[in-house]
Amino acid sequence: MATCSAPGKIYLFGEHAVVYGEPAIACAVDLRTYVTAKRADFITINSDLGETGLDYEVHPYVSACINKMLGNGNRRFSLGTVGSPSGVSVEIRSDIPIGSGLGSSAAVTIAALQALNLEFSLGLAPDRIAELGHRIEAEVQGAASPTDTYVSTMGGLIALPSRRKLRLLDCDIVIGDTLQGASPKKTARMVSMVASLRDEFPNIINPIIKTIGSFASLGEKLLEERDYASLGKLMNIDHGMLDALGVGTAQLSALVYAARSAGAYGAKITGAGGGGCMVALTDRPEKVAMAIEDAGGKAIITRATELGVEVE
Ligand code: PMV
Repeated sequence: MATCSAPGKIYLFGEHAVVYGEPAIACAVDLRTYVTAKRADFITINSDLGETGLDYEVHPYVSACINKMLGNGNRRFSLGTVGSPSGVSVEIRSDIPIGSGLGSSAAVTIAALQALNLEFSLGLAPDRIAELGHRIEAEVQGAASPTDTYVSTMGGLIALPSRRKLRLLDCDIVIGDTLQGASPKKTARMVSMVASLRDEFPNIINPIIKTIGSFASLGEKLLEERDYASLGKLMNIDHGMLDALGVGTAQLSALVYAARSAGAYGAKITGAGGGGCMVALTDRPEKVAMAIEDAGGKAIITRATELGVEVE
């Protein structure tokens, strides 16, 4: 039996602009998904969503992981071959809200791939796990950037597209979930909305995308200096830019403003927007969390983590 866990992530800077090749900074956070894989006679997948066999409706990511690692997708191991167990039982438990911009699908995919990797001694290195994870996300969602799966595999604070690890930020992070718009298809919808706006007004939208990219470059320096006050100001401006791209919502802004009023260094949308989550950096997490809850959101106090995919 093998149990592995993998973290969710936030974007400090650069969501949406990264789609157009601009730099971004993403950070693994201490919210994790745990997957246990155990050889068995049949295939079963168990989670809060219910118990299924291979089921691409209810458990699309884990079903794809099993198929890739143990099914036709892997010539080294074929489900049902003589002398091999013909199935696996997979149990999933997660701290990460689903489809809200925190990388829940990447975390379950990476934790499942690594648990299967260990349980069936397939010998895949972390780079390969990250790459397979990205391929599975892209297959299931139609399109996906490699950011979530990479950050979930490696952990830490990561500059993109270079994938350089930066010194971890050491202040508190408060996530505010609007509890609205959660859906695995939301990212693709938001990305295509920004693309349409850019087609319609290229001279206006392209400079906004460039400006968002410049936050990541400046943000790296500020992170190095641990200048959270200035980082927070940049996050606030970034939120305005994301709003200008059309991915904000009234509720996201309500949580962002509540966090700022409670003294956060800065607060912004994290991920695709259109609902989902915002993130604040702060040295007074309880106060910021309470303000987010008072504004109707669900607050989660967390920290950055160096831990990527881990054996439990
Ligand atoms: O909401 P998430 O965590 O899937 O983040 C989306 C980030 C985008 O830049 C909008 C898209 C991407 O693939 O990078």
